[in-house]
Amino acid sequence: MDILKKIQDHREQEEELKWEGTFSEYLELLKERPYLAQSAHSRVYNMIKSAGVAEEHDHKRYKFFDEDIYGLDEAMEKLVEEYFHPAARRLDVRKRILLLMGPVSGGKSTLVNLLKRGMEKYTHTDEGAVFAIKGCPMHEDPLHLVPNHLRKDFQEEYGIRIEGSLSPLNTMRVETEYGGRIEDVLVERIFFSEDKRTGIGTFSPSDPKSQDIADLTGSIDFSTIAQYGSESDPRAYRFDGELNKANRGIMEFQEMLKCDEKFLWHLLSLTQEGNFKAGRFALISADELIIAHTNEAEYRSFIANKKNEALHSRMIVMPVPYNLKVSQEERIYEKMIRESDIRDVHIAPHTLRVAAMFTILTRLKESKKASIDVLKKMRLYDGEILEGFSDVDVEELKKEHADEGMSGIDPRYVINRISSTIIKKELTSINALDVLRSLKDGLGSHASISSEDKERYLDFISLARKEYDEIAKKEVQKAFVYSYEESAVTLMDNYLDNVEAYCNKAKLRDPLTGEELNPDERLMRSIEEQIGVSENAKKAFREEILIRISAYARKGKKFDYQSHERLREAIQKKLFADLKDVVKITTSTKTPDEQQLKKINEVVATLIDEHGYNSSSANELLKYVGSLLNR
Ligand SMILES: Nc1ncnc2c1ncn2[C@@H]1O[C@H](COP(=O)(O)OP(=O)(O)OP(=O)(O)O)[C@@H](O)[C@H]1O
Ligand SMILES: [Mg+2]
Repeated sequence: MDILKKIQDHREQEEELKWEGTFSEYLELLKERPYLAQSAHSRVYNMIKSAGVAEEHDHKRYKFFDEDIYGLDEAMEKLVEEYFHPAARRLDVRKRILLLMGPVSGGKSTLVNLLKRGMEKYTHTDEGAVFAIKGCPMHEDPLHLVPNHLRKDFQEEYGIRIEGSLSPLNTMRVETEYGGRIEDVLVERIFFSEDKRTGIGTFSPSDPKSQDIADLTGSIDFSTIAQYGSESDPRAYRFDGELNKANRGIMEFQEMLKCDEKFLWHLLSLTQEGNFKAGRFALISADELIIAHTNEAEYRSFIANKKNEALHSRMIVMPVPYNLKVSQEERIYEKMIRESDIRDVHIAPHTLRVAAMFTILTRLKESKKASIDVLKKMRLYDGEILEGFSDVDVEELKKEHADEGMSGIDPRYVINRISSTIIKKELTSINALDVLRSLKDGLGSHASISSEDKERYLDFISLARKEYDEIAKKEVQKAFVYSYEESAVTLMDNYLDNVEAYCNKAKLRDPLTGEELNPDERLMRSIEEQIGVSENAKKAFREEILIRISAYARKGKKFDYQSHERLREAIQKKLFADLKDVVKITTSTKTPDEQQLKKINEVVATLIDEHGYNSSSANELLKYVGSLLNR
């Protein structure tokens, strides 16, 4: 389908969703679908819930956040259960400003954007539909039309509680345009859109001297004031501040605590009483979710100031810490790179993972348990299964430091270092070593790193480097073994024949001489030792393999070299040990002979075809591993 057709279809769909009718027709709608009258908080909560909730262990994962927020399941769970859910049920937290507090580039803005974009979509659905008094700049809730003295009757009939009073502008319009007949007032369906300033507002602090309160609450319209004769005529006022426009939806307060106090005072009554003051009018009711964000340092200095007590008590602070999982951090980088101008550069496998290891290490706090060093902690947090540790241990670890994840290296720093290295050196391909070097070089110029932290971070760079060395060796090992696949299969068959004879207390027959032989203990042990099977455990290990073989046979499946994870590892390691010299020579020689060259080309081809390298990163890897093996 071409794009013009799609545009046309989209317009038609939008057209279909439109609805307009009188207030009495709107009441008919409410009879069938009372949820249409829900509050802003309730709509946000229902939107989050509508994306699905997965129960995992003792936790809930709200899938709404999956798309854009990685590794913060627990923080998101807390946010939903302690703010959005109770706020939706009209509990007191609704009257508080939601203040997201977290370290720089930890995803606060991303989270708010996700909510905003989500609401734009949700108001296009049946469940998320919003209706407003037609022509009202604040998209006022039509139910405000119901006079106060009748609201109790209304609640009895419809089961809906009405909060807030009709704005001065609409009070006047009902009189002048509808002759007081509220049932005739026109109501329309609205769709949130930040671009069109409907239901979503954003306020970001600028120079307090020049910033005007009008940005928040609107201003007098000097072009019409002559026509209406008075400043207090609501028709001579432009209700176009962010608080006005965000009515019924979400209002984002960026860097709230950088804001001049006079802006914040407006929030006091808005949050507590659900109304604010604009111009010379009676209070204006508003129904909106206010989300602000800030970092920890600003928050601390804010609460240290006694003057801020009133405001502080009207906030609910939710931490948005850094992600602490290596694999999720890798996804964050992948996403940021996809969205950047370096997306076409080849990034060698494991590069982002190694960078992520470094980053996570800088965010972790040391455990009080002697048996857990930072590397172990990093692995456990990432969901790796380590011998001797269970999920319970991981939960305990998480509880040791309440402020874990509130400091360390931020993702933006990593991406900036990667980009600047690529651009400066005009690279078309980048690997883990390039990135670690670049992260290291940048530490000196990173504004917020103390010299003490710098020392620690340098240690983490070398830890990550060591991890990379292991990964690199394994990768090359795998690629070599792959091109020695035949040898692996032979070695495996040989081992299995011996194991079978050993377990059955039988003899083997030499294929050439026909002579009877005892099982080759040395061969079996040389393989088993690769994966740490001890002398005492060897019998059990061999028997287990035999059982596995017969289980396969019963199901008519072929037991091969891939069928037993540990055995495969053992075979690969053994082959690699045997091959070590070949690898060493092949990867490090400057003038390979024909035979070696052939092997190198095969291995490079494997790295490219099977493991995602390109020819330059594959050759770099071989060279590097060659130098490691020669140390
Ligand atoms: N947990 C995370 N999941 C997904 N992306 C993340 C996460 N943390 C950070 N990012 C990415 O890092 C970048 C910076 O995040 P964002 O701007 O949302 O942070 P912030 O907390 O608002 O930072 P600041 O305090 O600097 O305003 C974004 O590209 C964002 O996608
Ligand atoms: Mg931000």
